[in-house]
Amino acid sequence: MKRIAILTSGGDAPGMNAALRAVVRTGILRGHRIFAFFNGFKGIIDNESAEMYNRSVGDILTRGGTIIGTSRVPEFLKPEVQKLAARNFELLEMDGLIVIGGDGSFRGAVDLGKFGVPIIGLPGTIDNDLNGTDNTIGFDTAVDTVLDSIRKVRDTASSHHRTIIVEVMGRRSGWIALKAGLAGGAEAIIVPEMPFDLEDLTHRLESGLARGKKHSIVVIAEGVMTANELSQKMAEKMGFTSNTVVLGYVQRGGSPTANDIILASKLGARAVDEIAGGKSDAMVGEIKGEVVVTPFDEVLAEHSIIDPNLYHLAMDLVH
Ligand code: F6P
Repeated sequence: MKRIAILTSGGDAPGMNAALRAVVRTGILRGHRIFAFFNGFKGIIDNESAEMYNRSVGDILTRGGTIIGTSRVPEFLKPEVQKLAARNFELLEMDGLIVIGGDGSFRGAVDLGKFGVPIIGLPGTIDNDLNGTDNTIGFDTAVDTVLDSIRKVRDTASSHHRTIIVEVMGRRSGWIALKAGLAGGAEAIIVPEMPFDLEDLTHRLESGLARGKKHSIVVIAEGVMTANELSQKMAEKMGFTSNTVVLGYVQRGGSPTANDIILASKLGARAVDEIAGGKSDAMVGEIKGEVVVTPFDEVLAEHSIIDPNLYHLAMDLVH
């Protein structure tokens, strides 16, 4: 019997609750005791935790966000704070920790691991920017949410014959922009991974309108520039008018899709077995349908970038 702790960290993502449920219920089924730290790493620093039971995670499967709270903790970069957290962890006689989050959370996990805390990571971020998994928990839901917005925006763009720029999340990765843009038939998709030229973009939109298109939708990942910056540049430099929509936190909320719930459940269950079996410093992900375990240093060495073939396909199909 092990004492296993879990926390959710960084930006919330739909499916985090499903992962928590899988960890708690698998852990209890295997005879372990499961504890949650509240509000990410802050919960270890402030010693805020509670034991979790089967009923503690009842009715959360389809809920967005994270019932145990999350945070970004800049002071966790300080070794003295990491040391304090490791000490609190030890005093609670925990055997291992499961961290659900993105790259920033895993960097925190690696730091804490250096003070002797065994840690397994679960990829929880809408950005899909992590190596070691084809999809991160929350990404599929975010794509569907963005797609729903693109469809609504398209009605107005089409009725008014307008160009509307939709800004989506993704600081270093264009996955959300690409998948939602492809599924939504966007005339242009602007992502950090692909070159971008203002003149090409404007000509592309103008030639579409000249060919009889009623509207244009441009999807831009926030990591390139804001929708407002792009709109302003197109107006000032190219004399091209557009409207903008910034989707923001809308993308992080809502009920997870079936794909995200299933992914979270599979990875959560495996995380328990990995940490109980003595594995540490690694993330559990899924590649080509197989659950795989990748060391944190490989996960963090570089981030996952979009598939350029999918990008070219998206662009080929809107002529
Ligand atoms: O990492 C997830 C994410 O939603 C990014 O896409 C976005 O850039 C960032 O978090 C926003 O962070 P915050 O919650 O601190 O505003």
